Amino acid sequence: MNHFSFNLFMFFATLISGAYAQQNYSGPLVWDCNNTDEAGPSPAFLYTCNGERKPCRAFLIFRPQPPYASVANISMLTSSDPSELARVNNVSIFAVFKPNIEVIVPVTCACSGQYYQANTSYTVAPFDTYYTVSTYNYQSLTTCDSVTRQNPYNALELKIGTKLLIPLRCACPTKEQKVDGTNFLLTYGVIGDETVSQISDSFKVKSTSVTYANGLSEEASVLYGATTILIPLQKEPAGPLTRINSSSSKSKKGVFIGIAGGISFAAFCLVLFLCYTRKHEVDDYKKQRWELPRDLLAGVAHHVDQNCLKVFDFDELEEATENFSPENKLGTSVYHGVLRGKMLAVKRMSRDISREVHILKRINHFNLIALYGACEHGNMLYLVYELMENGCLKEWLRKKSSPKIHSWNCRISIALDVANGLLYLHNFTSPAYVHKDINSSNILLNRDLRAKIANFSLARSADIGENGNSSIKFSMETKGYKAPEYLEANKVSPKVDIYAFGVVLLELITGREVVLKQDGEEVLLSEKVLAIMNEKDNETKLQELVDPCLQMKHPLGYIIDQTDLTLRMINLSVACLQVEPSRRLTASEVVSTLLKIQMDALRPEFLSM
Ligand SMILES: *[C@@H]1O[C@H](CO)[C@@H](O)[C@H](O)[C@H]1NC(C)=O
Ligand SMILES: *[C@@H]1O[C@H](CO)[C@@H](O)[C@H](O)[C@H]1NC(C)=O
Ligand SMILES: *[C@@H]1O[C@H](CO)[C@@H](O)[C@H](O)[C@H]1NC(C)=O
Ligand SMILES: *[C@@H]1O[C@H](CO)[C@@H](O)[C@H](O)[C@H]1NC(C)=O
Ligand SMILES: *[C@@H]1O[C@H](CO)[C@@H](O)[C@H](O)[C@H]1NC(C)=O
Ligand SMILES: *[C@@H]1O[C@H](CO)[C@@H](O)[C@H](O)[C@H]1NC(C)=O
Repeated sequence: MNHFSFNLFMFFATLISGAYAQQNYSGPLVWDCNNTDEAGPSPAFLYTCNGERKPCRAFLIFRPQPPYASVANISMLTSSDPSELARVNNVSIFAVFKPNIEVIVPVTCACSGQYYQANTSYTVAPFDTYYTVSTYNYQSLTTCDSVTRQNPYNALELKIGTKLLIPLRCACPTKEQKVDGTNFLLTYGVIGDETVSQISDSFKVKSTSVTYANGLSEEASVLYGATTILIPLQKEPAGPLTRINSSSSKSKKGVFIGIAGGISFAAFCLVLFLCYTRKHEVDDYKKQRWELPRDLLAGVAHHVDQNCLKVFDFDELEEATENFSPENKLGTSVYHGVLRGKMLAVKRMSRDISREVHILKRINHFNLIALYGACEHGNMLYLVYELMENGCLKEWLRKKSSPKIHSWNCRISIALDVANGLLYLHNFTSPAYVHKDINSSNILLNRDLRAKIANFSLARSADIGENGNSSIKFSMETKGYKAPEYLEANKVSPKVDIYAFGVVLLELITGREVVLKQDGEEVLLSEKVLAIMNEKDNETKLQELVDPCLQMKHPLGYIIDQTDLTLRMINLSVACLQVEPSRRLTASEVVSTLLKIQMDALRPEFLSM
């Protein structure tokens, strides 16, 4: 096949939606550790073994981050030959990489069963889970599903020091690709909202060949952060990898709103809501400026077709919410209604959306509230979200009307949902985001009492230095959630959210409000708990703090002792409430601690104790 006919072939191949694709793009499936491949190979695991069966040379892109920043460390992590790794990147074998460089990692890729993989091993460290190891340590170059499959250990009982087998995602060229001159495939981890053409340009390859290699098509080529795509290369890549400056031609101005079909988790239709101008310099991609669009809807309309964002008519909203009637009111300027067959929530706000929607790229996660669309009318803007039937956590705890309020499991699961949302926000969006306003009013519960984080009006990139006003006066309640370094010096980091999470956890444990009335004075819940923790023989006092709703009675009538569970939960929140931000846990440590507590709480011994 000559070049021309191959291009034609690819053209038709992409037309019939990837049926002849080299590999299928996983999309957000890999964000979930819950896939099966019983019905045939799934891109949620690894790339399918569909080319030559004999091993081939392949490449991965790794972004150095401590403790994996040197040739020695990266080659150890990936079981790559250090001298080869140094040669390919044109550095010495003792080199330590700058944080913004993309390191080329040469590996040997081979079929194992139905998938290609490059084997390496990893030693379990404290707080590791299959999910965090694959997505965080390995930067999505492997998947949680495939790591779980390759290792016999219970996902919740990974012992420190255990050696895990890690299959890295790689692939060998198919016959068709070889004919076209592709000799190597490079596995590239997508950052944030990069597009196929930006990535292809930066590797100086045709975007059609990338589209084809990944089973994408012109129409369906939305990429997601924390997933990988294959880059077909004619010759070995050579470092240091200087990717061309794509910001001049590709910079986006104004607003970009899109919906990605809800493929992962609970199949929610999700929206990306993004208002920004981006300086996408390779050396500097973390420092981004945010600028607000002049005319939101003009921006929206522009993206309606590609991203299936729903732009609602005002009439529709009026009809659905019965003219914004009090019966349909859910909270301050939030109404519910049935819109195009779905129960949704409509939020009305003034034109100044800068506070409300200062949001994220591809925030697309089960535990973050999904936005469906927008409508503009008069001077107001209406945003349409998924409906959370059980309202906010604060009210739910206050009303105590749900039977599930008595269950520790339910409360632990709510805490886990919030922690998972934060884990995603802090680690898997690029740049990392800080919500800045985590509190029990911004955590919403759906019909099944699954929790989602809402209200991103204060969310911001974690990398930009704060230049706001630190003398803002907060109400006592707002203060109750704010980390000391934020209150005093306006310092923002993901640890600010962790602090607030610690307070929410205390609300879940005690069922009390953040501001307590004590002898006529107002005391913060967190201060009270910390004070008791510092006392001697504090067990009775701690037990008294726990929500009386959570007491469990044995069928024989006595009250079941839950001291152990209570203490573990309180200790976890105390670990989030440390004054020194660096001593607070990270979101992934919170998730893994909660998973362990949850597992123990589900044990029959616990229930029958
Ligand atoms: C891609 O998906 C299609 C449809 O599910 C399937 O027929 C094909 O075998 C898959 N290709 C690979 C390489 O897995
Ligand atoms: C990474 O390399 C440094 C020396 O360059 C070493 O001190 C450190 O222990 C290594 N980290 C790991 C995780 O191997
Ligand atoms: C490799 O590095 C050396 C020394 O740093 C430099 O002279 C040479 O041009 C580099 N080669 C490439 C291909 O960048
Ligand atoms: C990688 O590990 C798997 C599972 O242990 C094994 O079946 C396969 O042969 C290994 N591949 C190579 C190239 O060593
Ligand atoms: C990239 O392009 C932008 C916009 O044209 C320019 O300001 C910047 O200096 C360029 N950066 C590099 C490294 O060339
Ligand atoms: C995992 O998958 C099972 C069935 O495939 C489903 O019942 C369950 O709800 C899923 N869990 C999550 C968290 O998506």
